[in-house]
Parts: sequence; structure tokens; C-alpha cells
Amino acid sequence: MACKLVIIGAGRMGSALAEGLLRAKWCEPGELALIARSVETRSALESRFPGVGVFASLEVVEIGEQTGAVLAVKPDQAEGVSRLAGAVGITRVLSVVAGLSSARIEGCFPGPVAVIRSMPNTPVLIGQGVTAMAGGAHVTSDDLDWAESILGAVGTAVRVTERNIDAVTGLSGPMPAYLYLVVEALIEAGVHQGLSRDVSRTLVVDSFAGSGALLKESGESPEVLRAQVTSPGGTTAAGLRVLEQHAVRAAFLDAVAAAAERSRQLGR
Ligand SMILES: NC(=O)c1ccc[n+]([C@@H]2O[C@H](COP(=O)([O-])OP(=O)(O)OC[C@H]3O[C@@H](n4cnc5c(N)ncnc54)[C@H](OP(=O)(O)O)[C@@H]3O)[C@@H](O)[C@H]2O)c1
Repeated sequence: MACKLVIIGAGRMGSALAEGLLRAKWCEPGELALIARSVETRSALESRFPGVGVFASLEVVEIGEQTGAVLAVKPDQAEGVSRLAGAVGITRVLSVVAGLSSARIEGCFPGPVAVIRSMPNTPVLIGQGVTAMAGGAHVTSDDLDWAESILGAVGTAVRVTERNIDAVTGLSGPMPAYLYLVVEALIEAGVHQGLSRDVSRTLVVDSFAGSGALLKESGESPEVLRAQVTSPGGTTAAGLRVLEQHAVRAAFLDAVAAAAERSRQLGR
């Protein structure tokens, strides 16, 4: 029986998607095929995903007219693998490969192919990521729904146009790194105030997770939530004034602009 989806490159990102799809019952294990090059990766995948087909190459997978593919290899492998996908008859592809345009992927196929390019971030690895996706030249609304149903299994999917992918690559792609830097600095700040590292870590990490959940679940704007903890002339106001003096807000604007510009350069 032809498989419903083949994940080409079942590494960190590919296997996180496989896990999310099986958890969401998007497909039965037997309808999924995973491709990885090394014997070690394949045997780890076989233990982790019982009933799922694990293969060394796309050429040995049974591909039908409805079989879609997720492209999740490293960027340097992506075009070669896409040419192979075209040769075996794949006509619908969701790519998570950073920096590779849909036009470049389309160019690897012998005929029209529906390519959806996406930019996930690392919380996808625990099913709580956010991914922006954009359709290529031959994509229909059905294709976008299909891609969204896959990405939705590992978090939230947001539709953008492809020209916004560089902005996404500057914002939500590196966002975990931006936030971890803030977390690191705050843990250190607690230690400087005499807290043990363990206590400081718990206070910062749990405040971080709780504040994120409050922001998401309350639906309130960050300005309102910040005002709620900022009494006039109080302690939070004193701390925030120092952050404004150090231009933290401007630093984030510049960081996102620099990362987006780097994404544009790499894509050229
Ligand atoms: N990880 C992230 O947080 C993240 C975030 C955004 C985007 N991405 C994108 O996701 C893609 C994958 O990243 P990753 O971190 O998941 O990499 P990874 O863990 O190295 O996984 C890549 C997988 O591809 C397999 N592979 C390599 N060459 C292949 C080929 N020619 N044919 C079939 N399979 C092949 C590898 O097999 P072996 O294990 O046997 O070598 C490995 O399982 C990248 O393009 C990256 O830009 C990743």
C-alpha cells in the first residue's frame, strides 16, 4: 500500500513531526514512511516508532498519487533529495529547510509541484512550536490546508507570503535564543542579589513559563499585563526604567532586523 506521507530526513525536526502526527492520529503508523541515511538513526527510529516504515532511501518507498513528502534534511542535501523526490513521482512537498526558496525546490522537479515552505522554531521538538508557512507557485488552498494540518500537530501554524519568510526567520525562528539569553541574564541577576543558582533558576524559569501562559491564555495585550505589575513609583517601575535607559526595546528591534537581513543574504 502506498504511504500517505514520507518524511525525508527523519532527524530532530523530521522525527518531532512524526511524533506529533502519530500523537494527533493524523495517520496510522503504517501510512507513514521515514527516511534516514545511517543505520544508527534508522534503528533508533524503528524502536521509537513501532509500525512505521523506516527506509534508507526514497527509491524503496511505495509512492502513490496522493503521497505527500516532508523535506527535513539539512540545507546542503535538500536540492539533491528534491530531485530524487521528483523522480519517484512526488507532487506535494512541505519543506522545513531553512533558507531554501520554494522556487529552488520547484526547479528540482520535472513538472509542476506544490511546494509549501515553512520556518518552524525549536519548541516544535516538544509539540509547542510556532511555524510560519508560505505556498509556492503551484499551491492550492487544499495544499495549504494539508501543510497546516501537518504543522498543527507540533504547535501553531501561521500563513504568510514567502516574502515575509525572512522576517519570520529574524523573529520567531531565533526567538528561543533571544529569550534564553534574557533568562540566562536574569538567573545571573538573581545570583548577584544573593540567591542560590538553583533558587534563581526556578524563580526565573517558572516566571518565564507562567508569564508566557498568562499572555497566551488571558488574550490580554503585553502592555496591559505589564501595567498590572507596575505600581506607580514602585519596584517594577524602578526596574523597567533601567531597562528603558539601556534601550532594551531598541536592541530587540535591531536584533530582529539583523537576523532578517542575514536570512536575506543567505538566501541569495
Ligand atoms: N532543528 C531545528 O530546530 C530546526 C528549526 C528550523 C528548521 N530546521 C530545518 O530542518 C532541517 C533538518 O534539521 P534537523 O535539525 O532535524 O537536522 P538533523 O537532525 O541532522 O536531521 C537530518 C536528517 O536527514 C537525514 N538525511 C541526511 N541526508 C539525507 C539524504 N540524502 N537522504 C535522506 N535522509 C537524509 C539524516 O539522516 P542520518 O541521521 O542518518 O544522518 C537525518 O536523519 C534543516 O534543513 C533545518 O534547516 C530545523
